[in-house]
Amino acid sequence: MESPPREDHWYSTAVPGIDKAWMVPVPDFVELRRYSYTSQFVADTSKPRHPNGGQPARLEQKRIPGFTPVLSTGNACETAANKEACTEALQSLDDGGMKGFGGDCNGAALSTCTAHYVVTTRGDDVRIYRTRDSIRQVLGTIDREEEAAFLAFAAGHSVCASTEIPSSVGVNPDEGFTVLVEQGLDCDAKQAWMSRKPVRISSSGEVVEHKAFKVKYGDTGCYPGRRPVGLQESRAESHEDARGTWFANAARLEAASIHAFLRLREELALHGAGQALQDAAFASAEDEVRHAEVTTRLARRFGAEPPEPSVADVPLRSLREVLLDNAVEGCVRETYSALLAHHQALHAEDAEIREAMVRIAEDETRHAGLSWDIDAWATPRLSEEERAGLREARRQALAVLRAEMAVPLDPELTADAGLPSPAVAAALLDSLEQSLWT
Ligand SMILES: [Fe+2]
Ligand SMILES: [Fe+2]
Repeated sequence: MESPPREDHWYSTAVPGIDKAWMVPVPDFVELRRYSYTSQFVADTSKPRHPNGGQPARLEQKRIPGFTPVLSTGNACETAANKEACTEALQSLDDGGMKGFGGDCNGAALSTCTAHYVVTTRGDDVRIYRTRDSIRQVLGTIDREEEAAFLAFAAGHSVCASTEIPSSVGVNPDEGFTVLVEQGLDCDAKQAWMSRKPVRISSSGEVVEHKAFKVKYGDTGCYPGRRPVGLQESRAESHEDARGTWFANAARLEAASIHAFLRLREELALHGAGQALQDAAFASAEDEVRHAEVTTRLARRFGAEPPEPSVADVPLRSLREVLLDNAVEGCVRETYSALLAHHQALHAEDAEIREAMVRIAEDETRHAGLSWDIDAWATPRLSEEERAGLREARRQALAVLRAEMAVPLDPELTADAGLPSPAVAAALLDSLEQSLWT
């Protein structure tokens, strides 16, 4: 499975936005610039050789002249009394050092590295900011998600792109923000996962890192449910009876969905959604309690024990994050879960499974409906760009589902449990895709 595409992949991290309006005092112009330098170990002949004959080495860094403007707002030297001098100062600004932030090296023996700095003009005053502390000072109080993301970037963290799930910035219930930064990609024989590290940014700009956690990534096999943010990877051990394994994994996801809906209710309340949506989220959590019980019973009948889901404690998120998550987990995955459950309710040869799925299918249809209700509630508040972000998130989620459903299933799962074969699943996904875009 692929992670979302990133620009300038090997040498540069995703860059969060910057706006002159965030700065105190507000400048006429702000620009984020990227520059490059090379970095390599060379023999240090000023030091004596080691007893074994080796020559000590030192790190040699060389600045590559020039810079690339990454993004800017405002007009340079707009209110300068002497525009010419200001423009001249901006152009001949001494940015020759190696000091910058948001750096990255490509890691070869002779590395090419990039880093960033910020320049501003205000009146005749031209300034350069190369450190986290100078950025912290000029941003003043951190009272916007974007400022928190920028400060995390200036503190050397790789800030996740805004379309990623779970994505970047959450509002802390007490004060400040939590930015989820990329920690790395890891894998074992069966699966890959991404690690994220919550970085807390207080309103005064203090940066505190917390323990990294794994996020869902590279799942295979579609199990019904809404995965909560922070859900830790774990699988039921592969059991001899494929039905046991499938229901054990399904039961884990059903139990995880309880967390997802309880969090959804809180996040809806935080962002001012009406009581009806909040109540529907709570009622869905209650449904998921029943689903977890029923699927646990079925797993045990086939000799398997479901693993308990473990969910990392992630702070409540911004409306944008909630909606992106809802687009993926709700509009796409729960809608597909509902189709899947209906298919099982019709085709499972095992009477107990069939009966269980009839009830679950009804509930999942309601859950899918709730996701679309949330989407409809929020859409009028969003910019065209944000709506496009949601469409893109749905498109990606559907592509992921397609990959998951292309895995051939054990015959007992198609017969007894009524799961669709890859071909039938593809047809179900086609119908889902049509409903998504019409
Ligand atoms: Fe469920
Ligand atoms: Fe559900």
